[in-house]
Formats: sequence, C-alpha cells, structure tokens
Amino acid sequence: MIEITNLKRNFGKTEVLKGISLKAEPGKVTGLLGPNGAGKTTTIKILSTILKPHGGDITVNRHSVIKEPALVRKNLGVVFEESGIYQRLTGEENILYFADLADVPPDVAKERMYKFFELLGVDYAKKLAGTYSKGMMQKINLIRAIIHNPPVVVLDEPTNGLDVPSTRAVETFIREMKDEGKTILLSTHLMAQVEKLCDYIYIIHKGRIVEEGPPQSIKEKYDTATVEDAFLKVVSSDVA
Ligand SMILES: Nc1ncnc2c1ncn2[C@@H]1O[C@H](COP(=O)(O)OP(=O)(O)OP(=O)(O)O)[C@@H](O)[C@H]1O
Ligand SMILES: [Mg+2]
Repeated sequence: MIEITNLKRNFGKTEVLKGISLKAEPGKVTGLLGPNGAGKTTTIKILSTILKPHGGDITVNRHSVIKEPALVRKNLGVVFEESGIYQRLTGEENILYFADLADVPPDVAKERMYKFFELLGVDYAKKLAGTYSKGMMQKINLIRAIIHNPPVVVLDEPTNGLDVPSTRAVETFIREMKDEGKTILLSTHLMAQVEKLCDYIYIIHKGRIVEEGPPQSIKEKYDTATVEDAFLKVVSSDVA
C-alpha cells in the first residue's frame, strides 16, 4: 500500500509538486499519468527516498519516507527509465549484486532470477551489460528492481524504448505481480497500456492531481471512447 499525503516539493523557487495526495492498494495497478514535466518522476523519486519532500509525507506499507527510509526501501522495488546498471558487470552479476545488498540468500536470488529470465526471454545475461541494447538493459533493470520480492512495485515508464514482444512480456509480468497481490504504481505515457493494465488512475498536471478514478468512469465522465481522449480533455482544460 502506498499513501501519499499533501506532498510538496520545490526546485529553487519553482513549486513542482503543489500538494499531491493519492493511494495505491494491494492487488491493483494504479496509474500515474500526466504530460511531460507534470511531476511524476519527482513524486517517484521522493517515494524511493532519493529526494526529500518539502511538505507532506509518503508511507509505503505504513512506513514513512521521512521517518523510516530504510524500511521503505525494503518494501519497495523501483524501476526507473534510466538504469543504474553497472556496465562492467554482466546482467547476472548486476542482479545478484543487488540481491546481496537486499540480503537475499544467493540460492533464492538465483532461483528467482532464472524464473524471470525465462519469463522475459533473457538469454544474454552472461554478457557484459555495457554491450546491451536499450531493451536488453531495461529487462535486467526490471529484474534487478524486484529480485528481493518487494510487496510494493513502482514503475516509471518501464516499457519506454522496448519492442512489441518485450513490451508485451513486461505487461504480462506486471499483471502477474498484481495477481500475486502486490501494490503497483505505474507511470506511463502509453494510454493503450493504461487501458490494459490500470484499475485506477490519477492524472497529474502542473504538480496537482486534476482527475482520478477507474478508467471506465473517467471515460464516461468525459464522454470519450478511450482514456487517451479523456486524458487530452483533462490536461487541455483549465482545471489546473
Ligand atoms: N533536479 C531538478 N532540478 C530542477 N528542476 C527539476 C529537477 N527535477 C525535475 N525538475 C523539474 O520538475 C518538473 C517535474 O519534472 P518530472 O521529472 O517530475 O516530470 P515528469 O512528470 O516525470 O515528466 P516526463 O513525462 O517528461 O518524464 C519539471 O518542470 C522539471 O523541469
Ligand atoms: Mg518522468
């Protein structure tokens, strides 16, 4: 469970987050949508304890990012767009290194890792990460983020730059994590992906949540056939 309460953050004099509140529940995929620069990655960075909030708080399974950042990190797997994969290690070594940092016993980590390799079609993990394409890197990045089996998983544009089969594999994987009862927060610009995966969505615009609800209700409210059309109506209106 993720609970964000009145979250604020400035960069210099610019208010980037102006009091964001949202909830993501177990067994559900919660979408965080918004135009470029809306504040999605900033929110996710505060959630993953990389950045500090200037107001409000976030709890991850009841642990506060302000008071208990170590416990937040233990409960959380975060997939960022730009990966922190070590180029001079192999894919396997990268994953096992992070498993070790998260105190996962090596045999448990290996078993999970090979299961994920099969699921995502990874057959190159013994090669150096510096030789990977973007999509190859992103799959290793994803596995690395969840190797410690965290109950809460946050994904910031996880399929950006992936080909169609890889995108489908990652989407299937997200659905499986949801079915296992994990709490999933997904930020994406792909509205077809939102329709396929999200149970509930929040639309963030200029640092505020301007709309929320199940995709179906949002489509009905804006009288549109797709989430994409509803999204365009929301972000082009003056609600923000
Ligand atoms: N380190 C930083 N220093 C100054 N400004 C920043 C910094 N990080 C983000 N910002 C600003 O905060 C705002 C929100 O950025 P953020 O990365 O959260 O947007 P986003 O919703 O993730 O956008 P995108 O869809 O393009 O990824 C932007 O105006 C950005 O310029
Ligand atoms: Mg972003």
